[in-house]
Amino acid sequence: MKKETYTAVVLAAGKGSRMQSKVKKQFMKLLGKPLVYYALLAFQESPVDEIILVTGRESIDYCRKQIVEKYGFTKVKEIVAGGKERYESVYEALKVASMDYVLIHDGARAFLDEEIISRSMKGVAEYNACVIGMPVKDTIKIVDKDQYAIETPKRSLLWQIQTPQCFITDEIRQAYEQMMAEEAKNITDDAMVMEQYGDRRVKLIEGSYENIKITTPEDIVIGKAMLKMRRVKRKTIQWLRTFQH
Ligand code: CTP
Ligand code: MG
Repeated sequence: MKKETYTAVVLAAGKGSRMQSKVKKQFMKLLGKPLVYYALLAFQESPVDEIILVTGRESIDYCRKQIVEKYGFTKVKEIVAGGKERYESVYEALKVASMDYVLIHDGARAFLDEEIISRSMKGVAEYNACVIGMPVKDTIKIVDKDQYAIETPKRSLLWQIQTPQCFITDEIRQAYEQMMAEEAKNITDDAMVMEQYGDRRVKLIEGSYENIKITTPEDIVIGKAMLKMRRVKRKTIQWLRTFQH
């Protein structure tokens, strides 16, 4: 049987306007490394076959020299220029993605781990289209234009959506092509493109509450704390292993 192959798309072509920082948020240093380093590292160490990194045209050189070459991310096959909107950046990556399946990931989600990547890969192989998410913790309300609550959807049916979002490469490319041919509006994730322009139902797969998107300045504080916690966890595991040998 032919072994299935996987492309990971790492998106880092945004403006980071909500972060209000001088350095673009995807390149802000978190414990000494640019933010997007962490997602690239997770995919480099995973079983995916190739990585496509999407960034602003002006940042391609920086990414190649200061991230991909510097940290030895040998799975990065191409660094492509993104577009104005997230969906335009995804579309550019889909043009060059060459494996059977594609895992589309926000470079601003630095806390992706082996578990989530493995669940994404298994999920897409089983369901053909899946996205990582988590049940919401808060009550969510729909408001009218004057900000009065008009409806409270049942919380047990609500999930917050994260990435990776995973598809058969040819199918999501086709759905994107169709969307790009029309006037696309308010597209906030890839599952929406599949829902509106493709034929697959999208299965939701549990990720983790740690898989946050670094978006506003307070997320940096949380992000640093989580990275430090992971460092301690890793060191403790290594330390415990020394007793087993
Ligand atoms: N992204 C992208 N191309 C765009 C817009 C977003 O590749 N035109 C990427 C971002 O770099 C980020 C991910 O998509 O990794 C999720 O987007 P978001 O968190 O909204 O980042 P920004 O768009 O950069 O931030 P903001 O919306 O605050 O400007
Ligand atoms: Mg954005």
